[in-house]
Amino acid sequence: MSREARALLLAAAAAMAACASRESQAPSGRIQRRPFGQVEGRTAHLYTLCGGRGLVAKITDYGAIVTELWVPDREGKKADVVLGFDTLEAYLAGHPYFGCIVGRCANRIAGAQFPIDGKTYRLAANDGPNHLHGGVRGFDKHLWDSAAKDGPEGPSLTLTRTSPDGEEGYPGTVRASVTYTLTDAGELKIEMTAVTDRPTIVNLAHHGYWNLAGHASGDILGHVLQVNAELFTPADATLIPFGTLAPVEGTPFDFRRGMRIGEDIDVAPGGYDLNFCINGPMGELRWAARLTEPKSGRWMEILTTEPGLQFYSGNFLDGTIRGKGGAVYAKHQGLCLETQRYPDSIHHPDWPTVILRPGETYRHLMIHRFDVKR
Ligand code: GLA
Repeated sequence: MSREARALLLAAAAAMAACASRESQAPSGRIQRRPFGQVEGRTAHLYTLCGGRGLVAKITDYGAIVTELWVPDREGKKADVVLGFDTLEAYLAGHPYFGCIVGRCANRIAGAQFPIDGKTYRLAANDGPNHLHGGVRGFDKHLWDSAAKDGPEGPSLTLTRTSPDGEEGYPGTVRASVTYTLTDAGELKIEMTAVTDRPTIVNLAHHGYWNLAGHASGDILGHVLQVNAELFTPADATLIPFGTLAPVEGTPFDFRRGMRIGEDIDVAPGGYDLNFCINGPMGELRWAARLTEPKSGRWMEILTTEPGLQFYSGNFLDGTIRGKGGAVYAKHQGLCLETQRYPDSIHHPDWPTVILRPGETYRHLMIHRFDVKR
């Protein structure tokens, strides 16, 4: 057996043992918590949630990161289907947003500045001339407060943090909350909310890197993706949208009927990295994407209340990152399907707004539903 296969088996056994264990510091046998390391003198934790249909998730309060997600294949064999690390130190050393919550504003803000009510706010330009994923130290690089509970839907973990006025250049104190639930129906459900005391921007997104064959199993080009979108937002070379909505029909972005990701990927320079406009009214829960891995039969459906879906095919992974069990994460080893507002919405007043005002509550629901195709 290869070293990697052995490491995988051991990790699987450990995850299963954690679920069976009764020696938990948390309130139920379906939830365990252990220290994960220190961040600025505070202890970070790693929670294990054991949900329905054999799902097991590990989530840390550092960055609200899902570090592992074990999902059965058509034979009932589990694999960890998200990219990530085994240790907190590896996350602290820096990574391309593995499994975290990005905020205050996911995706890009052109020119790293924006106006609200006539006043201009300047942000860090951390992606060429633009602002990306909340800045130099966004929500993914903070320790959140955490509370786990076993509820009627399944075990859940609520993570909260207060982002102070002026953090990363954004105005207003924002109180954000993210609840991860592993439901008895075999879903990973993510509920995001936020309130503010001054007009500001809020656009949170979960940034999981998926590989339904297992995080250490090579590229995702054989996965079949279906996206519920007639339109996408064409963008320039720095991935800032021009402001138009274009039909996917006749482009390599037509995933309406389902397409192997590798099929047309060469037409998109470097791979896919674009925003789809999900059909149907924003605010209503509707399906956004379906991802199938033919060999294992694993199948994931994403539902959302958000208007946009960023599909990123792991183009910047280059084999320099060693992940869980020593796995080398090469180009296209994982893919992201991030529900959110359209990129750079703050500069497009006719698009669904990212502005949050005092008295309003930002709400974003994202559900990952797992099953197998026989
Ligand atoms: C997002 C972006 C990508 C890239 C990744 C992180 O999904 O759309 O361009 O920045 O995050 O590497």
